[in-house]
Amino acid sequence: MSAPVTTRIDDTPAVTSLRRKDLLGIAELTPEEIALILDTAVAMKEIGSRPIKKVPALRGKTVVNLFFEPSTRTRTSFEIAEKRLSADTLNIAIATSSVVKGETLADTALNLEAMQPDMIVLRHASSGACHLLSRICRSAIINAGDGMHEHPTQALLDAFTIRERKQRLAGLKVAIVGDLLHSRVLRSNIHLLTKMGADVWVCGPPTLIPAGIGRFGVRATSVVDEAVADADVVMLLRIQLERMEGAYFPSLREYFTVFGMTEARLRRARPDVMIMHPGPMNRGVEIASEVADGPYSVILDQVANGVAVRMAVLYLLAGGAEHEAAA
Ligand code: CP
Repeated sequence: MSAPVTTRIDDTPAVTSLRRKDLLGIAELTPEEIALILDTAVAMKEIGSRPIKKVPALRGKTVVNLFFEPSTRTRTSFEIAEKRLSADTLNIAIATSSVVKGETLADTALNLEAMQPDMIVLRHASSGACHLLSRICRSAIINAGDGMHEHPTQALLDAFTIRERKQRLAGLKVAIVGDLLHSRVLRSNIHLLTKMGADVWVCGPPTLIPAGIGRFGVRATSVVDEAVADADVVMLLRIQLERMEGAYFPSLREYFTVFGMTEARLRRARPDVMIMHPGPMNRGVEIASEVADGPYSVILDQVANGVAVRMAVLYLLAGGAEHEAAA
């Protein structure tokens, strides 16, 4: 990486680095910072297309991946991103750590910190876990999903994928359909898409629509056809049975009948609609296989773009071009 990546929105000054220690959520980012991350990810994606997919940008930096919840996409793509930037990476296996002996999150993090890592990537079942570590740790904390709160790098990779196809975010109708109540992906996407000027609709059973969600600048409905009508993007969210204690709808079969995304429902969207899903998918529940694997699906593009976006976040939190110049 040589020239600093800069971005300019309207008449605001160009932004060249993330002047913050942590990435805890999209709520705290400005539109200029979001644009900087997305622009930087374009350069990072090019690195992934080279025969030798490695640059020395984070040489000498140590990154700890601390995942207290299962993950396929996020954990793997963070590790690939760290390796492409030449960071030293360490994956903590919770099942064989002292967490199983009752060690707390705070003590686990402070003991890891004693070994001088530079960044900790944290996934945890508790909303606010990343904010806790941010207060007590010197290392940069990157939120890889905390409870039902936020999943900022997922929203960033979703925005990158939309922008790559549509060349913009502002003015697009984005319909987000599924388990709204339990979704950290929803919260991060609402913050990001509304900040960047998209027209966001959310749709699900009334029992799964968070109270007061309209305050966040989105339109809520339980009528799928209304949400999908003329949509540029339809994003499905997983039904999170593991976070549900009661019955929010009669059965999974009934959920699919009323809310499942099928080819027939999709005909109401724009002809160039994009179908997105953060994964993992429940095929035949929130999405039909013919849609998940069909011509409008960009679900695997989202996964591929996750590496570039996470490279951008790691690089910018480490100081971006300013860090490289000082090295
Ligand atoms: N989208 C997402 O967070 O997937 P994983 O749980 O596999 O990381």
